[in-house]
Amino acid sequence: MSRIPLIAGNWKMHKTLSATRTLLGELQTAVADVDSVEVAVAPPFTALAAAVETLRGGSIRTGAQNMNEAEEGAFTGEISPVMLTDVGVNFVILGHSERRALYGEDDELVGRKVNTALAHDLVPYLCCGETQGEREAGTTEAVVSRQLLAGLAGVQADQAASLVVAYEPVWAIGTGLTATPEQAQQVHASIRALLAERFGESVAQSIRIQYGGSVKPGNAAELMAQPDIDGALVGGASLDAASFAGIVRATAAAGS
Ligand code: 13P
Repeated sequence: MSRIPLIAGNWKMHKTLSATRTLLGELQTAVADVDSVEVAVAPPFTALAAAVETLRGGSIRTGAQNMNEAEEGAFTGEISPVMLTDVGVNFVILGHSERRALYGEDDELVGRKVNTALAHDLVPYLCCGETQGEREAGTTEAVVSRQLLAGLAGVQADQAASLVVAYEPVWAIGTGLTATPEQAQQVHASIRALLAERFGESVAQSIRIQYGGSVKPGNAAELMAQPDIDGALVGGASLDAASFAGIVRATAAAGS
């Protein structure tokens, strides 16, 4: 099955407007000759319009890092799917572990957001992943499947093919610790099996499952060479054009 690998940068709470324009200009140049990898960036809300404008006419996609599940209303400080499509983004990261751990997002809320995103033609990047304690307790696959089943509640098979799953072990995020390719592959294979049960084999084969957690140019190739790892959701290393482009290039080389 050939899934086009997807390398996405989650900028988190980084980059001003001018830094956004500079980074994206450099990135466009750095990956201009790579056509076997899909590249995407998720700047902060304040920089989305500038990112869409800077990337117009090119192939790099722009997305948001979060979204409210309602279309509008009295929700101070929140951003709706209508606002995201209006600004021109095409995907949204949902259920990131930082949202779950720091802002109390639970599985059911994430599921409602996934359904709202799909209803607005925004591609959800649904994040899942276990903590260190959960891994040590042997509950990794149970935790990930609970997060995914709740996150995908109500989603129909014909909507599912477009979505993206990001497996990000919490203990590997921002720590410099990376799951070994074998550890990651094992969880990715279990995710694909769950998707097959839920949506059927052919839909499961078309869904891209990204790995996230301290992905760098130096470790990307061995991760991307695994059969069920279809790209990466990159935090820290996406803040610099050379390192992010290095991951894109390593991914292109792993697939060729
Ligand atoms: P790092 O690449 O900084 O570990 O972050 C991963 C992540 O959380 C991407 O969403």
